[in-house]
Amino acid sequence: MIETSGVLRSWNLLLHPIYSVISHVGGIIMLPFSLSGHRDNLRDLIAGSNLHVTLANGKQVPLINFDNAATTPPLRSVLEAIERFAPWYGSVHRGGGIKSEVTTRLYEEARWLVADFVDSDRDRNVVIFVKNTTEAINKLAHRLAQNSGYRNIVISTVMEHHSNDLPWRNKFRVLYAEVDEAGHLRLDDLERKLKISRGRVRLVTVTGASNITGHVNPIGEIARLAHQYGAEILVDGAQMVPHLPVSMKGFADGEFIDYLAFSAHKMYAPFGTGVLIGPRKTFERGHSEMVGGGTVELVSHRQVRWAEVPHRDEAGTPNMMGVVALTAAIQSLKRLGMQRVMEVEGKLADYARRCLSRVPRLVFYGDNQNHKNKVGIISFNVLGVPHETVASYLANEHGIAVRSGCFCAQPYVQRLLRVSPAEVEQAFVTPSKPHRGMVRISFGFYNTTAEIDALVNALHAFSGC
Ligand code: ALA
Repeated sequence: MIETSGVLRSWNLLLHPIYSVISHVGGIIMLPFSLSGHRDNLRDLIAGSNLHVTLANGKQVPLINFDNAATTPPLRSVLEAIERFAPWYGSVHRGGGIKSEVTTRLYEEARWLVADFVDSDRDRNVVIFVKNTTEAINKLAHRLAQNSGYRNIVISTVMEHHSNDLPWRNKFRVLYAEVDEAGHLRLDDLERKLKISRGRVRLVTVTGASNITGHVNPIGEIARLAHQYGAEILVDGAQMVPHLPVSMKGFADGEFIDYLAFSAHKMYAPFGTGVLIGPRKTFERGHSEMVGGGTVELVSHRQVRWAEVPHRDEAGTPNMMGVVALTAAIQSLKRLGMQRVMEVEGKLADYARRCLSRVPRLVFYGDNQNHKNKVGIISFNVLGVPHETVASYLANEHGIAVRSGCFCAQPYVQRLLRVSPAEVEQAFVTPSKPHRGMVRISFGFYNTTAEIDALVNALHAFSGC
C-alpha cells in the first residue's frame, strides 16, 4: 500500500512533464497552460483557426467562424492538456492505484479553480459538474421542486432560451417577466411580478446575456430585487461566463448570485462538461434527478443514505476529460484576462454593427444603436430573403459559418419578429409551415475585423436583388 502523502508528493513528480508544474495557491490547482510567449496572436490560441474550405465554385478560402454562441472551437491549450493528462487518466473516486489517486485529486481540486473563476463564495457554495447548462438547470429545477413547498412560483423571462424555460414548466407555476420593444428585460415588470406573488416566488431565473440580442442583463439589480422579495436567483451563464468577468459574490448588498449554470463547450473546452454552482444547503436536501453509482453512502434493498454533497449529484463515473478541458480553458482565459476578452469582443461587435448598418436591406433585432452592455452577438435578416437562404449562401459561397433560425429561444424570437399570438397558435396546427427566424453572428476573442469585412462584402451581394 502506498502512503497517501507519499503519493501526493510523488505525483507532482510523476506528472512532470505531464503538468510540468503543479502548484497549489490557496488550494487551487495551477496548471501551466501558456497563453503568452510564442502564442501572442490570439488566433494561434485556437485549434483550426487557419482552416480553409472549398466553396461551391471550387475556390479555396479561409474558413470564418461566426457561430461562437452555439459552440466555440477548442483552445489549443485544452487539447494539449487532454493529451498530457491522458496517460494518467484513472477512475474518479472508484479505484486504487496512482492513476485513480491522481485523477481523483485533480477532479476535486478543479472545483476550486472553477469557483475562483466566477468568484463564488467557497464557504457557502458547492460546484457540481454536469454535462452542460441544460443539464444544470434541469438538475436545479428538479431539486428545488422537491423542497419548495408553498413557494411554487418561478419567475423566468421572455428572453430565455428553452433550457431556462422548459425545465421549470412542469414543476412550478412559471411567470415570464416582459421585455421591451428592443428586447431588454423590463425590470419594472419583474418587480411587479415579485410584488404580487410576494412570499410565493422560489426563484428568479434569468439569462446573464441573451443568445439572440447579446443584451447583458443587470444581474446585480435583478439579484437585489429577487432577494428583497424573498426569492433566490439563478443566472444562466451560458453566454456570459465565456465573455465577461463574473462575480457571484457581487459588488453590493443583496447583489450576489445564488445559482450559476454554464457550459464548457461554449468556452473553448468541448469535452462534455458543464457546471452548476449553488448553496451547499440546497443540495443537502433531497436527492439528484439521476441516481446510481457515486451518489450513495449506504444502500440496502429497503433504504438509501445519500452521499455527501456534491457527490450525491454526480451519478456515474465523472467526465474527467471534460473537467481537465474546462480547467485548461479557465487557466487560459484567466491568463488572457476576462476584461481583455470582453474588450476585444466588444470592439469586434462595435465594428461589425457599424459596417453592417451600411449594408442595404438588413434589419437588426435588439438595440442596435446602444453598444453598451452587450456581448458579441448580432441578429438580423435580409429583407425578402429567408434566413436559411442567407446562412447557406454565406457558408457555400463565402465559407462563413453563422447560425440561422430561432436559436432555441422561440418565444423571444417570435416577440422580436413581432409574430402575432394567432400566428404562433397557427404554427402548432400546420407543422409543415416554415418557421420564421433570423441570421445570427456571434464572436469569439479570436475573430478579426478582416473576417467582418468579408461578411459585409458577402452581404452586399443582396443589395441589388
Ligand atoms: N443556445 C445555443 C445557441 O444559441 C444553442 O446557439
